Amino acid sequence: MLAVTARAHTNIALIKYWGKADSELMLPANSSVSMTLDQFYTETTVTFDADATADSFVLDGVRQDFLATTKITRFLDIVRALANTASFAHVESVNHVPTAAGLASSASAFAALALAASTAAGLNLTQQELTRLARRGSGSASRSINGGFVIWHRGHDDASSFAEPVQVNPNLNLRMLAVVLDHRQKRVSSRQGMAETVATSPYFPAWADAAEAASHAMVRALTGSDFAEIGAMVERSALMMHATTLAANPPFTYFQPETLATLQLVQDMRAKGLPVYATMDAGPNVKVLTTADAVLQVQDQLAAALNAPITVCAPGPDAQIIKEEEVDA
Ligand code: PMV
Repeated sequence: MLAVTARAHTNIALIKYWGKADSELMLPANSSVSMTLDQFYTETTVTFDADATADSFVLDGVRQDFLATTKITRFLDIVRALANTASFAHVESVNHVPTAAGLASSASAFAALALAASTAAGLNLTQQELTRLARRGSGSASRSINGGFVIWHRGHDDASSFAEPVQVNPNLNLRMLAVVLDHRQKRVSSRQGMAETVATSPYFPAWADAAEAASHAMVRALTGSDFAEIGAMVERSALMMHATTLAANPPFTYFQPETLATLQLVQDMRAKGLPVYATMDAGPNVKVLTTADAVLQVQDQLAAALNAPITVCAPGPDAQIIKEEEVDA
């Protein structure tokens, strides 16, 4: 049997995806733009086994329960249909990213799974086809197939909702610091949180319109050299996304007291002249966007003020196959 191992890096949205237009095909309500991070990734090995009677899923050395395995099976069903095979698979993943704490482990997880599973099944997908396949596992995973900076086009059907790299001015030299304020699993998954927002938040239509426009504005801004313009758009996109959850019914928030304290700290550092902007996802952690020139100073000041692990990230690489080997059943 052929065991294929792929590695994919997480990404953090500069302009957020929040809300689906079609939850079966995972079409988003708006386009989004992200930076792939070099420091956080998932490695996943997939082996299709004609003798297996079900899919199996081991995460970080622990055999996963029925519910977690079902999510993998649903995704593998798409791969099986494409490859015209009925074989079940063994899936083994190692996460080099704090799972489900708003650091986008689902993005790297489904991107690595899409690449490993499609390769193991004998499919030879293009980069763009891979982004569409990864999207079916988790929307943000579509953006983790490519390294650097990426736009995921909202699209209107399976073929048009894909991700691709965007050009970035090399003088920008962006860095992202991940501040892990809380490593526990988030209470409301992004899937559930965005579904509740779409269904009940009167702010949602305004969000989707603004985020679509912001995605295109961000692609333009990344070709320029105005860091402050990019940073302001990044922080605003995050706050607009979180505003939609506050207006949901019932209202909810991913913010913890430390989230707001860190946001305030970033704004104070900026007021003192440092190029820093914050972004937050479906969890309490804060990611801080800055430049390579300022990153050491920013890291020092965050570390002095917060009792939290901080990881400095540069733009990361494309998802890639790292091993293919014949193994015994
Ligand atoms: O595709 P998911 O379920 O990982 O949703 C991602 C949602 C956010 O992280 C909050 C925003 C984004 O664009 O990554």
